[in-house]
Amino acid sequence: MPLTDQTREKARAIIARYPKSRSALLPMLHLVQAEEGYVSPEGITLCAEELGLTKAEVSAVATFYTMYKRRPVGDYLVSVCTNTMCGVLGGDKAYEAVSEHLGVGHDETTEDGKFTLEHAECLAACDYAPVMTINYEFYDQVDADAAVDIVRRLQSGTSPLPSRGARLCTFKQIEMQLAGFQDDRPSTTGEGPAGTPTLAGVRLADSVGVSVPGYDPNTPIPAVRPKDPPPAPAKKNEKGAK
Ligand code: FES
Repeated sequence: MPLTDQTREKARAIIARYPKSRSALLPMLHLVQAEEGYVSPEGITLCAEELGLTKAEVSAVATFYTMYKRRPVGDYLVSVCTNTMCGVLGGDKAYEAVSEHLGVGHDETTEDGKFTLEHAECLAACDYAPVMTINYEFYDQVDADAAVDIVRRLQSGTSPLPSRGARLCTFKQIEMQLAGFQDDRPSTTGEGPAGTPTLAGVRLADSVGVSVPGYDPNTPIPAVRPKDPPPAPAKKNEKGAK
């Protein structure tokens, strides 16, 4: 889908959030992925034009981070962690099983455009190893059979609940959230708190009387950022303040 004036307006809304315009590049690249399914040449041009950067500078950033994709991604980005902890606990086997089931390898998309598979580096959830994410939602402790079963259920039209956090949405929808735009669908808010291993330290601290005032570990995981706060009042410059 070609980028539109609306995309450009959204890009400008992102830029307006930052004191320095180039700080907006990372969410702008997510915006491009939300529209195009990857960082397209047209998207690189848009970012460069809006930020006053060269296309080479934008490309250098887009090719550095693995979350920015250089080819169109399917509706579901399946990321199987094959880093050390997950790998030895079954992540390698889970990756191979999903790869065989879908008939694609790393960074490849199924012919129907539904699934893209990737090896993932540590997904920062080693306490639930081996883990797999789909569109960045976690499925914990998945062995090969469980990983394939989750993919099968998606293929059959059901949406298996992630272990934590919000319900699954499409790759483009999650990219719009990552660009920092409110997603008003009710299912974008997690239905439970963070998992037990993640909260073990918090609960231990709480049990010995160390806690952050007002923090409730049972708070559901919000999948979207709160609406932008109102802009801060303009600061007087030093000269005017005297
Ligand atoms: S090694 Fe897989 S989440 Fe850390």
